Amino acid sequence: MKDSTKHIAIFASGTGTNAEAMIRYFNDADRCAKVVLVLSNKADAPVLARARALGVEALYVSRDDFSDRDLMTRLTEDIDAVVLAGFLMMVPEFLVERFEGRMVNIHPSLLPKFGGKGMYGRRVHEAVVASGETETGITVHLVSDECDGGRILFQAKTDVKPSDTPAEIEARVHALEYLHYPPAVEKLLATYMPSA
Ligand code: GRF
Repeated sequence: MKDSTKHIAIFASGTGTNAEAMIRYFNDADRCAKVVLVLSNKADAPVLARARALGVEALYVSRDDFSDRDLMTRLTEDIDAVVLAGFLMMVPEFLVERFEGRMVNIHPSLLPKFGGKGMYGRRVHEAVVASGETETGITVHLVSDECDGGRILFQAKTDVKPSDTPAEIEARVHALEYLHYPPAVEKLLATYMPSA
C-alpha cells in the first residue's frame, strides 16, 4: 500500500530556527506529513546544517537555479507542499503556480502592517517600535506573486509595551512562530489534501 504521508519542502535563506521547529514537529510519528527536503539560496546558510543534523536532505540551490524550471520540477517532483521559512528571494512564478494553495510563508508582523519589500528580520520589529504600535504578531499566509500578499490563513498577537526593544519583540514573535507555524501547516495540509 502507498504510504499516505505528505512530503514537505522548506525553502529558507538564513538561520533556520523555524525550519528546525517545523522538522521536529513533523518528526512525531502520528503526523500526516514530514519534511523531506530543505533548499537554500545561500550556500552558507545555517539552516542547511540544522536540517542535515536532523536527518533531512538539505541542498544549496543558487538564485539562477531556483529559476530553472526543469531542475526545480525535478527537485520538487514528490513534494506536496512548500513551506517558506525566512526565504529572502521572490519565488519564481512557475513554482508559485505549481504549488498554488500549497505554498505558505510566515511573516513576523500582523500583515498587511509592516510587510512588503525590504521588510524582514529585525527591520520589521524596529518599524513596529518606531510607529508606536501597541501590538504585533505573526501572519501565516499563502504565497502569491505579490510580496507578503497572499491569502491570510492564521494570525497570532503579542502586546508591545512602550519599553520594549526590537530584540525583545523579536524574541516573543519567534516564540509565537515556533508554536503556531507547524500546526498551521498541518491544518492546511488536512484542508487542502483531506487524505493527509
Ligand atoms: C522569521 O522571523 C520569519 O517570520 C521570517 O524570517 C524569520 C526567519 O527566522 N519570514 P529563522 O531563520 O527561522 O530563524
